[in-house]
Parts: sequence; structure tokens; C-alpha cells
Amino acid sequence: MEPFIEFKNVKKIYKMGDVEIPALSGVDFSINKGEVVIIAGASGAGKSTILNILGGMETLTEGEIIVDGKKISDYDQTQRIGYRRYDVGFVFQFYNLVQNLTALENVELATQISRDPLDIVQVMKDVGLEKQMDLFPAQLSGGEQQRVAIARALAKNPKLLLCDEPTGALDYSTGKAILKLLQDTSRRTGMTVVIITHNLALTAIGDRVIRVKSGRVDSVTVNEHPMDVADVEW
Ligand SMILES: Nc1ncnc2c1ncn2[C@@H]1O[C@H](COP(=O)(O)OP(=O)(O)OP(=O)(O)O)[C@@H](O)[C@H]1O
Ligand SMILES: [Mg+2]
Repeated sequence: MEPFIEFKNVKKIYKMGDVEIPALSGVDFSINKGEVVIIAGASGAGKSTILNILGGMETLTEGEIIVDGKKISDYDQTQRIGYRRYDVGFVFQFYNLVQNLTALENVELATQISRDPLDIVQVMKDVGLEKQMDLFPAQLSGGEQQRVAIARALAKNPKLLLCDEPTGALDYSTGKAILKLLQDTSRRTGMTVVIITHNLALTAIGDRVIRVKSGRVDSVTVNEHPMDVADVEW
């Protein structure tokens, strides 16, 4: 079976005036379809850079990236916008919701740029927000806002869900509920989910764990028996 995602010798150099900052210095890994992937590593290691390049939000300096049989590293700006719109769902640390739209409207907005959106009310039910659909973000708890953000990403029906420290702003039990939702969603729908975390205890829940160090892959581990989020303590 061909891998669903492949990074081949991916390099990223940020240029700030005359200064060159090598964020990625030759990154190689592959990911199979339907996996929950944990990307771990110290601050500044290059985790967000990897995710942003994979999601078409940043370009790479060198190397090759294949997603679902397409060489996205060759995409021009227009193709990249289309890829980002239709194929990728993003979840960030600080939710990024539109404050003057309700929870449901935030999700609806995202589906307007999708070719094949899911039923938004059903998605709200799936993330446990049936009763909060008509509330505004300021009326929701942090965990509820993050669930809106996840619903918004899922409702687009993307090939790939990318999460950059999705529990970074949440307390322990709320963070755990969010991770459980991500793991359950991947298992239920076969969606490929990539999660960045600082927390090494979370590596146990990944089907695959990619450890990043100083702009390179330090190790890749495949867990034959990943733990259920509910059974992990940290
Ligand atoms: N837009 C940018 N311009 C210049 N340098 C950048 C930019 N984005 C990231 N970098 C640099 O690239 C390196 C990797 O950054 P990245 O954000 O990928 O790290 P990270 O692993 O996500 O860290 P953290 O855990 O703190 O979020 C860092 O040295 C950072 O300063
Ligand atoms: Mg980061």
C-alpha cells in the first residue's frame, strides 16, 4: 500500500533580511490513511512548520510532499488555496472562531467553501454540542469552543485533520475529552488526524509517533496497540 502522506527531504529556510533560519533541515516520514499521528518535540523543533507546510499554509524551500497521490509540493498558489480549502481541516490552540457568529454559524461558514460538506447539525451532535448550537463563542467554555473549532474542521469533510496543540489552552479533563473526540473521529470515519503536542505521555495514543528535534525527524514509532485516550493519565 502506498502511504497516504509522504515527506521526502523537506527543507524550510525562513529568510529574515540577510539572516537565514533553517526551520526544517531534511524531514522524511510517511503516514498511512486513517492513522492518528502524534508529532512531538521541544519548542522550536519545527513541529508547526511541518504542519503548516503539510496543510498548504506555508511553502517549502526544498524536497517533495505527496498527499493522497498528489505532489502538493509542486502546487502553485491557486492549487494550494484549493487544497487548503477542500482537503484540509485545521484546529489551532486558540480556536479562532468568528465571535459574532453562533457556534452553528461558525460551522456553516466553513462548509460554504466545501464541495462535499457533512450535515452540520449532525456534526454538532457528534462533538457533543447539540444544546449549544445557538450560543456565541463568548458564551461557551474553552472546551466547548474547541469542539466548535473541531466541528468546523470536520464539517468540511476534509481528507486530513491537522491539529496544532489543540489542548494547549484547556484544563486536564477538558483536554482529555478533546483528544478522545479526535481519536474517536478518526476510528469512526477513517480520517487521518495529525496532532502536535509537547506532552510525551500522549505518544501512547498515537498509531504513529513522529519525534522532531532541531528541524529533523529524531524517531518514528508505530504503536501496534495505541491506548485509548480514556486510559491514558498524564
Ligand atoms: N514565520 C517565521 N519566520 C521566521 N522564523 C520562523 C517562522 N516560523 C517559525 N520560525 C522558526 O523556525 C523554527 C521552528 O519553529 P516552529 O514554529 O515550527 O517550532 P515548534 O516546534 O512548533 O515550536 P513550539 O512548540 O514552540 O510551537 C524556530 O526556530 C522558529 O523561530
Ligand atoms: Mg508550534
